[in-house]
Amino acid sequence: MSDETRAKPPQLTLDQVAELLPGTGEIMASVGVAWWKCAYAARGGNWDLAAYFARRVRGLQRKLAVIRPKYADDLVAFETELLAPVLLALERHDGPAFERLYAKATDRANELHVKWAKPYIRWVLPDEPPTDLDLGT
Ligand code: HEM
Repeated sequence: MSDETRAKPPQLTLDQVAELLPGTGEIMASVGVAWWKCAYAARGGNWDLAAYFARRVRGLQRKLAVIRPKYADDLVAFETELLAPVLLALERHDGPAFERLYAKATDRANELHVKWAKPYIRWVLPDEPPTDLDLGT
């Protein structure tokens, strides 16, 4: 096949690339899963795994702030005021502090869902632990 007849890959415009980025709902769905696993890893005493998932939430929310700048201020405040203390409690293996800070962060997340016109999105920690990971020490 000559160079002339070989199909050229389609050139995507920036708008098209932007269309392909995950939306807020998709990112938040991943945040919810990571937040769930974070709690049960901490409860199982797998502190490194819990911190891994708390950092996963942080990373996803930083991405969201880039993709949807209108949420950036709330996401920065959430990270510094709520997520950072959660991570500190995990580093210290401090279960009671973790539970308190985790509940506080969850409450704030749900307040933000109300603020951003999604009052019907109220995240609750599932009763069941995830079964795909070793949550123990
Ligand atoms: C640990 C914290 C959080 C959890 C567990 C959480 C969880 C969720 C979940 C499960 C959804 C529904 C996703 C779906 O469509 O399947 C959602 C939606 C949403 N969350 Fe969060 N969230 C958190 C923090 C935040 C923060 C800090 C903001 C700040 C702006 C935020 C803003 C939103 C918005 C705007 C939606 C609606 C998505 C859309 O418009 O499609 N969330 N969240």
